[in-house]
Amino acid sequence: MTMRRVFSGIQPTADSFHLGNYLGAVRQWVDLQDSRDAIYSVVDMHAITMPYDPETLRRRTKVAAAQLFAAGLDPERCILFAQSQVPEHAELCWILSCLTGFGEANRMTQFKDKSAKGGAEASSVGLFTYPILQAADILLYHADEVPVGEDQRQHLELSRTLAQRFNHRFGKTFTVPAPYILPAVSKITDLQDPTAKMSKSSSSPQGIIDLLDEPAAIRRKINRAVTDAESVVRVDDDAKPGVTNLLRIYAALSGDPAGDIAARYGDAGYGGFKKDLGNLVADTFAPIRERTAKLLDDGDTLDRLLADGARRAGAIAKQTMAEVRDKCGFPPAILAFYSERSRLFGHCPRLLICNRTLLANHTDRGTIQYSRAGNVSEAPVFPLEA
Ligand code: TYM
Repeated sequence: MTMRRVFSGIQPTADSFHLGNYLGAVRQWVDLQDSRDAIYSVVDMHAITMPYDPETLRRRTKVAAAQLFAAGLDPERCILFAQSQVPEHAELCWILSCLTGFGEANRMTQFKDKSAKGGAEASSVGLFTYPILQAADILLYHADEVPVGEDQRQHLELSRTLAQRFNHRFGKTFTVPAPYILPAVSKITDLQDPTAKMSKSSSSPQGIIDLLDEPAAIRRKINRAVTDAESVVRVDDDAKPGVTNLLRIYAALSGDPAGDIAARYGDAGYGGFKKDLGNLVADTFAPIRERTAKLLDDGDTLDRLLADGARRAGAIAKQTMAEVRDKCGFPPAILAFYSERSRLFGHCPRLLICNRTLLANHTDRGTIQYSRAGNVSEAPVFPLEA
């Protein structure tokens, strides 16, 4: 039996991931490597939908990848790549954009939230169409499931709608992806405002715990987390959102049920509870922080790991796009520009590009042959040098 496939992405928009990213997404990514065919991406193209600095983005993409490997992603058991290194994401995004209604895109609440700050007029069109790029990310890989936090649910609904719409209009092509959301960790809240999501764009430094924070900073932030005037540790989302959030974090990291933890501390006040939780978070993150620093010290290895991930992801994405292009009524993509003098193709006259529906074979005539459903056709490839 083939394994179900998962795909997920994370934006490199900060110098560190935070506890919400870790519990809501990254930890599931690590766990799912064993039971699923797992593909993950640092979605750097999503990170340019807001004003940004190219050098900062370049650095953060690497820091993001390093943190993911340090947290337990294993290139032998999953594919991890930078989105911009697989250009098919942008290509499919355009095709899906042409299937998305303006009103449909306009209903995405995250655009409303993010554009509210500077006003919709000042927001980029990229920020508006961002959920369509997200749909392209997922559909390119025929993902069955998408491990994310609660805030991504609406975007996943759009991905499902677009998959179904494409399939209906052009014939079965895409897998309709299901969300993989664990309710206990799907919305970790801000330590200073426990009714709001912990968020890299809106939380204050005291409200957010970064994966790369120093252990002392982690303990201090937990110690100062907003709770309530009672001194009883118990789960109660409405009356005690701060304590409940801390209990959820504790339960997720220790593996103990929240009720058992609450019973352990009872009405002894919050001091001991917060101290133990601070140590637990600090001890969980310290080794990840150390491994991240080591990986970043060896930038060449990190680049090589990402390039290898892009090669593997790109092979799948190309297959999907060959089918999509054909169904949309486009001619096959020119998959190879060859150079008579280039060593690569010069010594490899028969370039085979195998797709599910397309088998391309580089001929001596400056064409590629491809077969679809048993019929052989030829398409031109263009020499780079005359
Ligand atoms: P991003 O980069 O904002 O967040 C990455 C992941 O972390 C989860 N998350 C949280 N989970 C629980 N509690 C929180 N406070 C919390 N904050 C963030 C997010 O739900 C997410 O799973 N649009 C996506 C990135 C993306 C993507 C994709 C995801 C692009 N393409 C394809 C899945 C599939 C985003 O901005 O996530």
